[in-house]
Amino acid sequence: MTTIEGTPRGAGLEILAPAKVNLALHVTARRADGYHELDSLTLFAESGDLLTVTPAAENALEIGGPRGAGLPAGDDNLCLRAARMTDFPVSVRLDKRLPAEAGLGGGSADAAAVLRAIARLSGSPLPAGTERLGADVPVCLASRATRMQGIGERLSPVHGLPPLAAVLVNPGVPVATPPVFKALVCRDNPPLEALPETPCDTATLIAWLARQRNDLEAPAITIAPVIATVIDTLAASPACQLARMSGSGASCFGLYPDRAASEAAAAKISAKHPEWWVKPAILR
Ligand code: C5P
Repeated sequence: MTTIEGTPRGAGLEILAPAKVNLALHVTARRADGYHELDSLTLFAESGDLLTVTPAAENALEIGGPRGAGLPAGDDNLCLRAARMTDFPVSVRLDKRLPAEAGLGGGSADAAAVLRAIARLSGSPLPAGTERLGADVPVCLASRATRMQGIGERLSPVHGLPPLAAVLVNPGVPVATPPVFKALVCRDNPPLEALPETPCDTATLIAWLARQRNDLEAPAITIAPVIATVIDTLAASPACQLARMSGSGASCFGLYPDRAASEAAAAKISAKHPEWWVKPAILR
């Protein structure tokens, strides 16, 4: 199985860029430079995009996979911008499995995977300033349970949370992040409540989560009203304990008591909405 550390493939590495899920995301302030201060509990799925990163004479990117059609592979692609932060040229083959502009990390997760692969192949440390590539790149470098603060650069690992059985759903409407922040009306919200004491059980974590929010949900729904339908569909699925949007949308997640319940809910939602991307996942 491909991991976030990577598996050797010839002279290169096959490496996982797992889906990022913001279980809660509070926008606590707007800064003078237009960016927003966040407070978010972020977990990761065991699945995501797959990348093969191989040392090469110059940087190159090839995109394929079930969600790769039409994605730009030019110099502006975050994978190539990430590679250019190092002096270790690589050829990247991106097998795109996650929907793009979806609130699941996507391009940031791919860029982080390229940087992790280069660090391992070259033996050099990760470059500084990766948040300049995208606010989610630092948390995707860690790809483990993390509390994100500041604009995404202040990270505290969170230990002792139970793994959560989830269903991820994307309705197929790409939602760009800047307009969602622009549509946010109330800009100064309280931070997350103090995290539950860990190790904690699933019921405690879900009760805590139910008291938190994603402050980007309401503005994202004004841009893509289908998000409200996705949340309602997840919430109405059998055994769903909590349904919420991730990141700036349009992907949402539902939480379930165990893997069997999440797989059963995913099958039901897929049957009702064959046009949606529906993925059972364990978040940790
Ligand atoms: O850094 P990233 O490219 O993901 O951010 C995209 C846009 O989202 C930024 O240009 C900004 O408008 C908004 N943003 C923000 N505050 C953050 C992260 C992103 O306002 N913490």
